Amino acid sequence: MLDLLYKRRSIRKYASEKLDVDTVQLLLGAALLSPSSRGFQPWQFVAVDDPEVLTQLASCKKGAGFLKDAALGIVILADPEKSDVWIEDASIAATILHLTSASLGLGSCWIQIRERQFSESETAEQNIRRILGIPENLKVTSIISIGYPDEFKSPHVEGDLGFDKVHLNKYGSKF
Ligand SMILES: Cc1cc2nc3c(=O)[nH]c(=O)nc-3n(C[C@H](O)[C@H](O)[C@H](O)COP(=O)(O)O)c2cc1C
Repeated sequence: MLDLLYKRRSIRKYASEKLDVDTVQLLLGAALLSPSSRGFQPWQFVAVDDPEVLTQLASCKKGAGFLKDAALGIVILADPEKSDVWIEDASIAATILHLTSASLGLGSCWIQIRERQFSESETAEQNIRRILGIPENLKVTSIISIGYPDEFKSPHVEGDLGFDKVHLNKYGSKF
């Protein structure tokens, strides 16, 4: 796990190779294993592997363009009626997907949707809702883009960790 945490990076360049069905199934299974508050599991997932749909989604906000070249985009939805902490639950599922991708040798990146704009008059969420036909009761929180990596990023190194953000017993007391 620690090795994985150091190696995990946000990968935004993907090879053209597709993911096989078993790999997609593994990824979605991992997301469905995510812990959630009181086990309410307020999330749902839309797995998108159609290049045309990925290209449409890639325009949902600035800085999501790389999604068009991904083999897979997993759109994370959550139902606020099912849990008051749906944001946390959806974020955990997104993190699990990001880490599982890295563990399988895949590159992935979190694309933030909640609180982001498509245009002045339309949110990224509304835009995606329209493209994918998502019902109004479900929030769109993020998309995880996934594919075989076409860029290498150096792993994190222990010396760069921000231990100044960690306090011992009392705020301001150095760890
Ligand atoms: C909540 C959250 C939202 C993010 N949103 C985006 C995004 O919209 N687009 C993007 O390219 N990267 C996004 N990222 C990836 C971060 O930019 C990235 O994790 C950060 O720069 C650290 O780099 P690393 O993941 O390679 O360690 C997001 C990450 C998180 C956790």
